Amino acid sequence: MSFIGRRGIIGPAYLSLGTQNSYGYSRSLSTLPDSEPSGTIGKLVAIVAERLGVGEMATNGLQLAVIGGALAGARYFGGFLVDFLKKRVVVTASFDSRDESYSWVLNWLNEHPYSQRTTQFSVSTSITSSGSSSLGEDRDKRFPPVYFLPAPGIHLLMYNNRLLWLNRELSQNSAAAVTKSSLERIHISTFGRSRDVLQQLVLDAQQKFIDRDLSRTVVFAADGYGNWRRTRSRPKRPLSTIVIPPCLKTQLVSDAKEFLVSEKWYSDRGIPYRRGYLLYGTPGSGKTSFVYSLAGELGLNIYVVSLSNKGLTDDTLGELVSDVDAAFVHRNRADGSGTNSVTFSGLLNAIDGVAAQEGRILCMTTNHKEKLDPALIRPGRIDVRVHFENATQEQARELFTKFYPGLTETESRELSETFAARIPNLKFSMAHLQGFLMGHKGLPIRAVDEVDSWVESHKDGPPKDTSSENEPLDA
Ligand SMILES: Nc1ncnc2c1ncn2[C@@H]1O[C@H](COP(=O)(O)OP(=O)(O)O)[C@@H](O)[C@H]1O
Ligand SMILES: [Mg+2]
Repeated sequence: MSFIGRRGIIGPAYLSLGTQNSYGYSRSLSTLPDSEPSGTIGKLVAIVAERLGVGEMATNGLQLAVIGGALAGARYFGGFLVDFLKKRVVVTASFDSRDESYSWVLNWLNEHPYSQRTTQFSVSTSITSSGSSSLGEDRDKRFPPVYFLPAPGIHLLMYNNRLLWLNRELSQNSAAAVTKSSLERIHISTFGRSRDVLQQLVLDAQQKFIDRDLSRTVVFAADGYGNWRRTRSRPKRPLSTIVIPPCLKTQLVSDAKEFLVSEKWYSDRGIPYRRGYLLYGTPGSGKTSFVYSLAGELGLNIYVVSLSNKGLTDDTLGELVSDVDAAFVHRNRADGSGTNSVTFSGLLNAIDGVAAQEGRILCMTTNHKEKLDPALIRPGRIDVRVHFENATQEQARELFTKFYPGLTETESRELSETFAARIPNLKFSMAHLQGFLMGHKGLPIRAVDEVDSWVESHKDGPPKDTSSENEPLDA
């Protein structure tokens, strides 16, 4: 801007602070007759210049400088003022998609009438931030659930007779693209200085979310970055549906219940407040199912660490296990043949090192106990060991009874006994028997008739069960 240089030396420095706007003003002023600065500021400057005894040439330079300075100052203080006022009259709560509270807010938003009304909405089949499927959260099994949420951008809505505005923003960075779960933020603001409304909103949202989960078991899984992601919630599985020797069941449940109420007992003795169960034995014998039922019975969440998860490292594992109230660590590959970078010492550290969380119950399930390192399952890490075997005839009988609840008492007894008598003891896993019965849904008599030939056809060993070797998280 050549003309700035011409007008004075202090001019350019200040003016450069201003933007096009201030240049615009300066330029139009510069066309005024030099000797007659008009306008209040101009006069003021002229007076000041006179008092200071500065010449006319300098006056113009000074004038420009002051105006430039004033504009830049207004801009600067304006921003400051807006910020200051914002802090005085607006309260804002921010939610980040990496945190669980984000799901609460989305759930709350989904139920808010505004979301049903707004013309700019986004549709989602999941309100978990991971974007993973939320199977089991739907009421109608044939369709995935659908959530209607306000689209990214600014929305105005009412809550408890207060006007709120909500800004939903997506940040698309490259890391997010890799993980497919983009980082999202929601800011909710309202007028006033009191945080009560927003805090109430958060508590409300949390309550809604918890109520929804009350009859469900919520499963969290580790992502590759050391965070827990809520993957799904499923209806609690009643313990009664697990067919294992009754004494075993009551023993385990009362052990876990007692543990949960004896924190003081542990701290009085200086013993780490942790408990570990090892469930080992045949694939398909109900180990995983039992863990889920137990969590449901105790009202705990499940945090699944699948050691065959490739993204897992010592660090993330340590963080995860140190991060939870009750961790059910779930060992799929007994031999650790997974290709992740969890080292054995990292695992031990996660289980009982400094990083290990107090008050958790660790459940390891494995199909090959003999392949586990003895250090992993020594007393103190694992307190209770339970062996799960192939189905006994008694288990086969009970499974049959549970599978066909519509029968009369005598029918049920007679059929189930015949069925069980035809199943060789400890030869088939419960999962196999269940599979057979599934093929005879609602046909108990046919099941009994055909079981002999089914057993015969699997004489040389049961069909290879691959599912449990490398089971998915929900197996
Ligand atoms: N003891 C059992 N009682 C009832 N169902 C069982 C039992 N064992 C296995 N099942 C059924 O077999 C399937 C696989 O069981 P799962 O718990 O995954 O076995 P595991 O973890 O021991 O390999 C599930 O659908 C479960 O309902
Ligand atoms: Mg299992």
